[in-house]
Amino acid sequence: MTAPCRNHVLKHSLRAVWSTPVFSRKGQVIGTLCVYQEKPGRPSFHHQEIISHAAHLASIAIERSQAEAALKRSETFLAEGQRISVTGSFLWKLDTDEVTFSSQLRDIFEFDADVEVTLEMIGARVHPDDLPILAEKQVQVRSGEDNPEYDIRLRMPDGRIKHMRVFGRVIKHEDGRLECLGAVQDVTRRRLAEEAHEKVRSELAHVSRVESLGTLTASIAHEINQPLASILTNGETGLRWLDRPEPNLAKARDLMRRVVGDARRAAEIIHRVRDMAGGGSMKQSEVSLADIIAEATVFLNGEVRTRGASVSVDVTPDLPSVLGDRTQLQQVIVNLIINALQALTDSGVDRKVIAVQVRESDSRTVLCAVEDSGPGIDETHLPRLFDSFFTTKEAGMGLGLPIAKSIIESHNGRITADNSSDLGGAKFTFELPVSMTSAGAS
Ligand SMILES: Nc1ncnc2c1ncn2[C@@H]1O[C@H](COP(=O)(O)OP(=O)(O)OP(=O)(O)O)[C@@H](O)[C@H]1O
Ligand SMILES: [Mg+2]
Repeated sequence: MTAPCRNHVLKHSLRAVWSTPVFSRKGQVIGTLCVYQEKPGRPSFHHQEIISHAAHLASIAIERSQAEAALKRSETFLAEGQRISVTGSFLWKLDTDEVTFSSQLRDIFEFDADVEVTLEMIGARVHPDDLPILAEKQVQVRSGEDNPEYDIRLRMPDGRIKHMRVFGRVIKHEDGRLECLGAVQDVTRRRLAEEAHEKVRSELAHVSRVESLGTLTASIAHEINQPLASILTNGETGLRWLDRPEPNLAKARDLMRRVVGDARRAAEIIHRVRDMAGGGSMKQSEVSLADIIAEATVFLNGEVRTRGASVSVDVTPDLPSVLGDRTQLQQVIVNLIINALQALTDSGVDRKVIAVQVRESDSRTVLCAVEDSGPGIDETHLPRLFDSFFTTKEAGMGLGLPIAKSIIESHNGRITADNSSDLGGAKFTFELPVSMTSAGAS
């Protein structure tokens, strides 16, 4: 017994107590009802009945006050949660078009606390370009479609733009009435951060593109300079042999042969580089990687068959298109498949399989992998694979991969190589961003 209670009992010379437990509806003891008497003794049967009635009433009162406290606590939690996550909630009764906004949602929409929110007020806040989205979603909800989830922008009276993510849930009452209960999250900060990140990414891509193009041209210039220098020396020496009083034709012929060989090499390099440029500047259009691969493999079919190999193409249906130069992208695929084919033939493996796979790696990127059942790439060669003029082939120029890299990077993509193929050989993977119109439509 608590001290004040004890004092009270002593002060009034109470001598007997009758305690009755107060039970919750679930049978738990949530209190005790005590009846004190001045004289020792039990309450009469009639009094006991009254006491048990009173205990029942007390149980209702205690449970209600506990529920109210719990409700208040969860309301506080909810409000705090909404405030922290910058989320508000709403209820839209479809039969009367009555809308109720939580106070957080009023703050997000910047509506005054005391005005009654209407559909017109909401429409006036939505960015004019996004009104069709709002109209479409409202039609969907009115037709009873559940779980609308979408992004929409608001435009504040001072011109500020806010980005919202909306989640709705349609409740169908037994009498046929519809209500839409929803949460709206203000994702402006996240969106701005994403935009800033995207900007930095594209600036970086630009820098690396310029750099990779620069490196490529520098090494091509260097590579052409070498045969040119030797053409010059051999040509001059040849002339001297011919200018002698007794021209040495054998020596001159030998030098001329070298001149022709060097000139041929220089011409070949120029030819490859011209191919890479696709006959001029980049011609950008919306292209489907699936089509590009199909065209490139048709072009290579004969070569593949005579070498006893096979190419399988696996493309996820309905891939978004990419913005790019058809000829250049075909060149990338052709270079990769030819390399794979050469690896298969040169190594003399029995099983000659090449697999090309295209899929979406996320909603913004398409990924293409070209892999083979060849011997794979020597680990020590991996870091130099994309360097211009790096080759392990006798007749190779070492231009296929650097050209592919430069094309992919000029399309804001990236290309990598490893030996992770399930077929046992090398795997080249490139990624390209999907075109904006395609990304918007999906
Ligand atoms: N699928 C592959 N399997 C194993 N090694 C490869 C594969 N693809 C490329 N390589 C290695 O990478 C090197 C560079 O390839 P790249 O295409 O740039 O030049 P290349 O094929 O040697 O000559 P070019 O393409 O100019 O005729 C190759 O010489 C080879 O060693
Ligand atoms: Mg090659």
